[in-house]
Amino acid sequence: MPDTLNSIAVLTSGGDAPGMNAAIRAVVRKGIFHNLKVYGIKRGYEGLIHGEFREMSLGSVADIVHRGGTVLMTARTEEMKTPEGQQKAREQLKMRGIDGLIVIGGDGSFRGALALSAQGVKVIGIPGTIDNDIAGTDLTIGFDTAVNTVVDAVSKIRDTATSHERTFIVEVMGRNCGSIALQAGVACGAESILVPEIPFDLEDIILKLRRGHRRGKNHSIILAAEGAASAYKLAEELHAHSGFDTRVTILGHLQRGGNPSALDGVIASAMGGKAVELLLAGKSEMMTAYVNQEVTEVPLNAAFAPKRPFNRKLYELAQELAI
Ligand code: F6P
Repeated sequence: MPDTLNSIAVLTSGGDAPGMNAAIRAVVRKGIFHNLKVYGIKRGYEGLIHGEFREMSLGSVADIVHRGGTVLMTARTEEMKTPEGQQKAREQLKMRGIDGLIVIGGDGSFRGALALSAQGVKVIGIPGTIDNDIAGTDLTIGFDTAVNTVVDAVSKIRDTATSHERTFIVEVMGRNCGSIALQAGVACGAESILVPEIPFDLEDIILKLRRGHRRGKNHSIILAAEGAASAYKLAEELHAHSGFDTRVTILGHLQRGGNPSALDGVIASAMGGKAVELLLAGKSEMMTAYVNQEVTEVPLNAAFAPKRPFNRKLYELAQELAI
């Protein structure tokens, strides 16, 4: 272990995601296990710039591994995009003798980390966002839980959809990424899955609904990522062109809450531990990643690859199954 590393800090940034607490706990416990002083920074970069640090003890992360949200709280901070903000952030770390920073968040959060790295701070990213839109890792912390939340919600919606013989458009999160819609749509057998990556055809959706109706299907679920369509507009058009009684449910921030699934809890803990190991090994500008069912590391800039590949195979399968 390089003898310069005495103190590290951890923050959560951007949208919260179930499992972030498990990652924080792992960073704190693993750091203390290795005799490091570990600081928690409140409200992401906002707190970093304004000096909201607290030294974390073993007990400070007790009873949080299974809780959703983030005990450190989080924010989206414009100031961190400015050289002045980055300078202030650097100063805050320097005056406390903090040599390493672990950032749990999405690619926007990692840009802030890279700016600090350019000023000599050792930085490690942990991918945490329900969107699963970060290149270089098969999974981000929170995605699995969010998908399970959607599947659970859709099964409840199906009950009322069946009773009333209705079509439901269920809007899920994902402005630029259809991962939640796709994964949950396949898991719950949605009749149509709309994602921002692939344009949809209204006629095709109606065709499928009619085909199902002729076979005796009395309800349908269309799972739409928020970036793929305006759910209310789509519902109007669908009703106008097909006559099907259509309702909309927007799941919204419900998808960001809840206890992490076992998978998220495990990945988050392993990534938290890995992040500390990387700092102890003197590494910087790395991101923990889940690749082929193992927690490993990739260069942080892998997160900025032009686009995370969309799982076209799964999308095509969903189309075939919803014949
Ligand atoms: O990045 C995670 C995410 O939940 C997106 O899916 C969603 O579009 C966005 O955050 C919502 O952001 P906010 O909580 O700021 O409304």
